[in-house]
Amino acid sequence: MPIIKLAKPTRLRPLPAAAVPVQKTDVRLGQIIRVLTDHAMVAVSGTKIGDEIGTSRSEVWRLIQQLRTLGVAIDGHPATGYQLRTVPDLLLADVLAPAVKGTLFQQIQHYYKIGSTNIAAMEAAAGGAPQGSVFVAEEQTAGRGRGANRWHSARSAGIYCSVVLRPNLPPSDALILSLAAGLAVQAAVRAIDSRVHPDLKWPNDVLLDDKKFCGILTEMNAEATRVRHVVVGIGINVNQQKFPEDLREVATSLRIESGKEWSRVELLGALLKSLDREYRDLLEKPNARESILRRFAEHSSYARGKNVHVEENGGFEGVTEGLDARGFLRVRTAHGLRTVLSGTVRAK
Ligand code: BTN
Repeated sequence: MPIIKLAKPTRLRPLPAAAVPVQKTDVRLGQIIRVLTDHAMVAVSGTKIGDEIGTSRSEVWRLIQQLRTLGVAIDGHPATGYQLRTVPDLLLADVLAPAVKGTLFQQIQHYYKIGSTNIAAMEAAAGGAPQGSVFVAEEQTAGRGRGANRWHSARSAGIYCSVVLRPNLPPSDALILSLAAGLAVQAAVRAIDSRVHPDLKWPNDVLLDDKKFCGILTEMNAEATRVRHVVVGIGINVNQQKFPEDLREVATSLRIESGKEWSRVELLGALLKSLDREYRDLLEKPNARESILRRFAEHSSYARGKNVHVEENGGFEGVTEGLDARGFLRVRTAHGLRTVLSGTVRAK
């Protein structure tokens, strides 16, 4: 099971039915929330909202009804004007915009329900979507994990997000990029609450209390020496309070571990900012690769001195001995030093 999935440079096969993306969210929903948030203390008339977002009063009414069915608490009606009861924690482009100002991530496409944001992002990238395009969903019906795994993607409980990058790097550097994405998640969580200390498990699981709350799936379309595009897909369990039976032993969420609800908008904003920083450094700073490898080793209890079982080539056991210069994990076994290229690593 490769860590970085290589897409064939040929045309993509048709998507399986479950993975076909459902329609993008109407951007006017986010614009209405922004107008209502900007005037939080007063009721705003349908006419004023319509003027601000460039649509009719009756269309505003229809969109308000749509927001209500999506769980957004809005008081009022056409005669009195509308007012938000609480600021909704929806990952809409207009809601995220202030947090991602100045970053690469200016094109955010939101879906209420989609098969997989990675599939949507890979398709869009193959069709020419610009670097920095973000695909984010409230719910995935066919969220993809590493190998043959699915990513459990309950509605509005987690962050399911994929970004398109077009780095001028050789394909071998995609692992470094993937390690950097794990560091970005760790930094984002710490930026929101410095009492939470996520651990990194090579290559890029992010753990709390030795259970996984974040997984990263990096997929790439490349020639032999040049990356065409990379999609970094990040799934974060944020406010889940429980998991299906088969995941209970291995999965956790920020809420379960910290005992409080988290703002997904705040966390995704922080994540895109720190991903932006890591990515720019990787492209621009000559020592960025070494910095990523060093910081990964410093911030991961798995990188060195950990007794592990590796599911690769029939499985083997040993003690971790840091990362090599390409970012692969070294494990000292009874038969010598081995390099883990793509296997799943578990604590013994
Ligand atoms: C893993 O198995 O650890 C990787 C999980 C990656 C899940 C994310 S959720 C957003 C993006 N879309 C997907 O279908 N998968 C990734």
